[in-house]
Amino acid sequence: MARMILFFAFVAAVSVAIAVGLWGGQYAARFANAPGQRVVEGDGEVLIGGPFTLTDQHGNTVTEADLEGHWSILYFGYTFCPDVCPVTLQNVTLALERLGSRADRVVPYFISVDPWRDTQEVMSDYAAYFHPSLVALWGTPEQVAEAAASFRVYFSPTNKPETDDYTVDHTSILYLLGPDGSYVSHFSHTTAVEEIAARLAEIL
Ligand code: NI
Repeated sequence: MARMILFFAFVAAVSVAIAVGLWGGQYAARFANAPGQRVVEGDGEVLIGGPFTLTDQHGNTVTEADLEGHWSILYFGYTFCPDVCPVTLQNVTLALERLGSRADRVVPYFISVDPWRDTQEVMSDYAAYFHPSLVALWGTPEQVAEAAASFRVYFSPTNKPETDDYTVDHTSILYLLGPDGSYVSHFSHTTAVEEIAARLAEIL
């Protein structure tokens, strides 16, 4: 009997070790691909951007094809975010306001990484606090995962979403995409309004 208990204890320990190893590996791999480190292919192409299908705050379907024809500032976050997301979106709003009519050529996008709580109604209410051209995108967990993967964005709820008692850890990078929808540059959530505005002014 004691040997059996020992055996099961051993199996349990090995299982935990494997699970931790797998989880840690996945975690490390995600961060190794963090966009701040400029993931570059052999031929120098930046691996940021790709397919996604989401819905905006008005109920329109938005895909990667809709990023073409204008400059885009794209940010992943969530409406329940207590600090970083609203500050970052406010910085984008202020930077675009500084650019005056030139900002007409830039569309800011906010993509929710909280598919469990950020519904169309929530996104619509939230978007109203920021720049009038803000496109607030939401989707199913699968759709959000696809969009995040396309932009190498990491996100993870801190607790089971069913509990409704969680925050969402997420990559906090502002992507600047060109009129062909491809990656041009990025800002951090700490980039000052003046700097975002100045860099946009250079290209617009
Ligand atoms: Ni946030």
